[in-house]
Amino acid sequence: MHSLSLRSIIASFVVLLSIPLSTSVAIEENFNHCLSLHSNTSNQFPSAIYTSINASYNSILESTAQNLRYLLPSVPKPDFIFTPFHDSQVQAAVICAKQLGIHMRVRSGGHDYEGLSYVSLIEKPFMILDLVKLREINVDIAHNTAWIQAGATVGEVYYRISERSAVKGFPAGLCTTLGIGGHITGGAYGSMMRKFGLGADNVLDARIVDVNGRVLDRAGMGEDLFWAIRGGGGGSFGVILWWKIKLVPVPQTVTVFRVTKTLEQGGNKLLYRWQQVAPNIDENLFIRVIIQPGNGSVPGKKTVTTSYNALFLGGADRLLQVMKKGFPELGLTRKDCLETSWIKSVLYIAGFPNDTPPEVLLQGKSTSKAYFKAKSDFVREVIPERSLNALWKIFLQDDGPLMIWNPYGGMMSRIEESATPFPHRKGTLYKIQYVTGWLDGEQSMAKHMNWIRKFYFYMAPYVSKYPREAYVNYRDLDIGMNQKNNTSFFKACSWGYRYFKGNFNRLVKVKTKVDPSNFFRHEQSIPPLPTGKRG
Ligand SMILES: Cc1cc2nc3c(=O)[nH]c(=O)nc-3n(C[C@H](O)[C@H](O)[C@H](O)COP(=O)(O)OP(=O)(O)OC[C@H]3O[C@@H](n4cnc5c(N)ncnc54)[C@H](O)[C@@H]3O)c2cc1C
Ligand SMILES: *[C@@H]1O[C@H](CO)[C@@H](O)[C@H](O)[C@H]1NC(C)=O
Ligand SMILES: *[C@@H]1O[C@H](CO)[C@@H](O)[C@H](O)[C@H]1NC(C)=O
Ligand SMILES: *[C@@H]1O[C@H](CO)[C@@H](O)[C@H](O)[C@H]1NC(C)=O
Ligand SMILES: *[C@@H]1O[C@H](CO)[C@@H](O)[C@H](O)[C@H]1NC(C)=O
Ligand SMILES: *[C@@H]1O[C@H](CO)[C@@H](O)[C@H](O)[C@H]1NC(C)=O
Repeated sequence: MHSLSLRSIIASFVVLLSIPLSTSVAIEENFNHCLSLHSNTSNQFPSAIYTSINASYNSILESTAQNLRYLLPSVPKPDFIFTPFHDSQVQAAVICAKQLGIHMRVRSGGHDYEGLSYVSLIEKPFMILDLVKLREINVDIAHNTAWIQAGATVGEVYYRISERSAVKGFPAGLCTTLGIGGHITGGAYGSMMRKFGLGADNVLDARIVDVNGRVLDRAGMGEDLFWAIRGGGGGSFGVILWWKIKLVPVPQTVTVFRVTKTLEQGGNKLLYRWQQVAPNIDENLFIRVIIQPGNGSVPGKKTVTTSYNALFLGGADRLLQVMKKGFPELGLTRKDCLETSWIKSVLYIAGFPNDTPPEVLLQGKSTSKAYFKAKSDFVREVIPERSLNALWKIFLQDDGPLMIWNPYGGMMSRIEESATPFPHRKGTLYKIQYVTGWLDGEQSMAKHMNWIRKFYFYMAPYVSKYPREAYVNYRDLDIGMNQKNNTSFFKACSWGYRYFKGNFNRLVKVKTKVDPSNFFRHEQSIPPLPTGKRG
């Protein structure tokens, strides 16, 4: 009796201890088996699944994950990662994950601000469907289009276009390691947005795997779903396999510049003026402002530096005329201007050192990763000069603060608010992005998180209201957290109206139609209508 119970205690210990590993492996084995049933001889790549027993599990998980905050040991890790080599394996993955009840996260470039493409804070078991191996790009200069697989980076896209033509480009993100797959689902802005709109405004077609594992193109999915995927946020409607984009014309010669002023050099007055000028100036000109702490002339006393970072679609002579007429206060001179090709301007704006060869874009590796938290706002009325002064006091309380002010206007104002789910159009002067970054992991995390929330609270009077708009591609899980009615649908309405304004209702309708069981979900995915409210 005694020995028997001891044996059973030991046995139960062994079982308990082996649970974490054996369940992950068992789940992976079931998935693998299911995949083989849904595969044919030409699409079997048996070594594309990684569990924690595979030596490369960590390096695959970390490879494109951009926010180190979501790789901390305390954060849940996927049971396995699947990296398909072929579209048909994506179909099989959706069918199998659904059948086996495995929660799926989809990752293209891994730049999600809240790690939603590689971490689930809400469900277990979960897997990552990582599209990193699906990165074909087919540029068709004759028809002015390109078909791009979701795992390609925007840098690769820009490079492949420029390789075929020096006078074609695409108006998407400034950071070159963004995955085209996730990027376009939330809008995709860059330094040509005032001339051509967003990446999402320049999409002609797409291929998506729906919840039933079917591949649908624009004609197959219909105009409602095609509308929803161009700005409604990633991870809600299906897995984008390909985007078909429209190329835009760029001149042989473009001009870039960066002019920096501290507060002591009249930075405040200039920034006040920029708010009035930048959204209304010639739409070939995009001047963003990068705001960081800096050293003033008094040793030991911190100041704020405002760096005016610009792309002009034209030559320096023309740019100087535009600036002389529209923004003489900046004092731009010929010496500040660098004439270059469009592809080299991409490198310049992304912050690569001068003379970096464009081939660097093919490496697709991001150079800097950090622990960070970010937020966004849209500004509709100029912030008075005296209010700017007060703002710097709080800004300088953090040791790693950054703000980027990004002008709107031009084409952005001419596209209807409901044309795509991205609603921040006419009347928006500029967007503010707030970032705080740090390198010591958990140690100073609370301090930085508290600071950014405080600064955001402080900014409320100066930014859009009812709703206080936010950019869905700058995912922010703080939004909706303080809802009184915390049921998931109500919480969703809170962030839903802020990311999408009136378009949220249509997104919910599309979701209810194409994925009523809510298979494609994450902490802030578009919810289907609660069953009681359908019909
Ligand atoms: C350093 C940095 C710079 C940035 N610069 C810009 C910028 O200049 N302009 C701009 O507009 N934005 C910018 N962003 C934000 C960026 O657009 C978003 O983070 C975008 O979602 C990244 O796409 P991804 O494929 O790299 O991300 P992922 O993390 O892979 O995915 C993001 C979201 O989309 C979903 N998703 C991914 N792939 C697919 C797919 N194939 N089908 C369906 N859903 C999918 C994911 O599940 C997740 O919810 C920047 C972000 C970072 C970190
Ligand atoms: C089989 O796989 C190939 C490529 O791997 C794909 O082109 C084809 O459509 C697949 N056929 C079926 C029936 O799934
Ligand atoms: C992971 O390990 C298993 C078991 O050793 C092996 O069968 C599989 O091929 C490995 N996966 C990869 C991607 O190497
Ligand atoms: C400011 O000065 C400090 C101390 O001299 C120096 O370490 C730091 O790099 C300077 N920062 C900038 C932005 O120049
Ligand atoms: C809402 O739910 C979240 C997570 O479930 C929780 O952290 C938060 O405190 C809740 N908010 C309120 C007001 O109850
Ligand atoms: C929250 O909303 C749900 C759904 O409409 C409703 O049933 C519930 O009563 C609400 N709860 C509160 C506290 O208002």
